[in-house]
Amino acid sequence: MKKSILFVCLGNICRSPAAEGIMRQMVEKAGQSDSIEVDSAGTYSGHAGDLPDVRMRRAASKRGYDLVHRARPIREEDFERFDMIVVMDDMNYEKVHRLAPSRREAEKIFRMREFFDTFSEWSYVPDPYYEGADGFELVLDMLEEGCRNLLTRISE
Ligand code: 4NP
Repeated sequence: MKKSILFVCLGNICRSPAAEGIMRQMVEKAGQSDSIEVDSAGTYSGHAGDLPDVRMRRAASKRGYDLVHRARPIREEDFERFDMIVVMDDMNYEKVHRLAPSRREAEKIFRMREFFDTFSEWSYVPDPYYEGADGFELVLDMLEEGCRNLLTRISE
């Protein structure tokens, strides 16, 4: 059965497009591109149309991920289109939860932290926008772990 996953952060230019790029590559390597669809969106629309932040694109590129997503805000219709909506932090969880058209649709919302193991002391993926280079590397480490575990979970 086909599965679709939407990753959501605030601006849709750092964390969620990185998660999308990482997950897409993992899905391709696992030969599951025909059965798993990935996309990303933001709860803030101010960066709509933008490529991911150049610092994130550079850091991701060094790990072999090409981030070409164009930012877009999450919409209510996304609840129909996606099976899972994976948010990066509690603020985004609250915003996405408020958009959910029904309680049943709200059950599609997950926090990225639910897929951490070595990063389980973190309850969220920190926003790297105002951080230095280390912040981007930390986010990529977390997202690689979270996406790997998420892929295992949905492949079971
Ligand atoms: P993101 O990071 O939510 O990981 O895409 C941010 C990008 C932009 C802003 C905040 C966070 N901003 O305030 O413009």
